[in-house]
Amino acid sequence: MPDLLLAAPIPDFLRAPLEAAYTCHELKDAAPHLASIRAVVPLGGTVLSTELLESMPALEIVSVMGVGYDGVPIPYCRQRGIRVTNTPDVLTDDVADIATALVLMTSRRLVESNRHLHAGKWPTAGAFPLAHALRGKTAGILGLGRIGKAIAHRLEAHGMKIAYHGRSAQNVPWAYFADLKALAAESDFFIVACPGGPETQKLVDSAILAALGPEGTLINIARGSVVDEAALITALQNRSIRSAGLDVFENEPHVPAALAACEHAVLLPHIGSATHETRHAMANLVIENLAAHFAGKDLLTPVC
Ligand code: 8YV
Repeated sequence: MPDLLLAAPIPDFLRAPLEAAYTCHELKDAAPHLASIRAVVPLGGTVLSTELLESMPALEIVSVMGVGYDGVPIPYCRQRGIRVTNTPDVLTDDVADIATALVLMTSRRLVESNRHLHAGKWPTAGAFPLAHALRGKTAGILGLGRIGKAIAHRLEAHGMKIAYHGRSAQNVPWAYFADLKALAAESDFFIVACPGGPETQKLVDSAILAALGPEGTLINIARGSVVDEAALITALQNRSIRSAGLDVFENEPHVPAALAACEHAVLLPHIGSATHETRHAMANLVIENLAAHFAGKDLLTPVC
């Protein structure tokens, strides 16, 4: 059985089939086995350093349980001929649902009004303050990939106008903005749906947040690295943006206390793909990619 490194806390429904087909090692006690490791399984956000990969001369494949592979040094893998796979498509709907939920939760103040009722304030403080409608508002999407498009379709069904920014204009019925700041200025909801990694590091900074403005809301279901979190906290504290709906953070699972204290923001613990159905489908893709590799067959979802 090939040696395999579990590079993150892998769920049991993936661990069990992997243990049946491979000799699995945990990161913490992998040192004596590094020379023979032929496969690595990380999660979407797991950072695999080049040094770690260098210590595994027999490594053939990294099979990421996640669509995002920003934690994997792709140029290094390409150069060494290490194959990399991810789990696209199977999580698109769930992540787009969470983006839509965050738009609704922030615009209609669902979390705040829920808290108001649970705190017994309805009879005493009276009716909850009015919120904001989605109809006619503009959703500006940064990154119109599979997930970005699924978000666009959902928000269109809520009566919203769709605009987007990406490397180039696509053949879609939505307005393309080549300039990110111009997209932020046009947006009522600015939705981050692009990959993480060095190319998008802190792309959403204080200037973009200023362009979004006091009636704008930032939604992020992609990677915390895309947003300058310190600038976002300042913007939320100063009310220079209206709200934020976040499923991802710069240093997960740690969320700065100052951000957690922003009661008008909606913060979720990275649950975009966290359903039984989707996580099992992701696990199956990992298993099938590894099996295809070791059987000398074509990979199902290769990155490189
Ligand atoms: C999960 C993700 O956090 O797919 C991704 O890139 O970030 C999420 O789906 C993760 O990969 C769980 O395995």
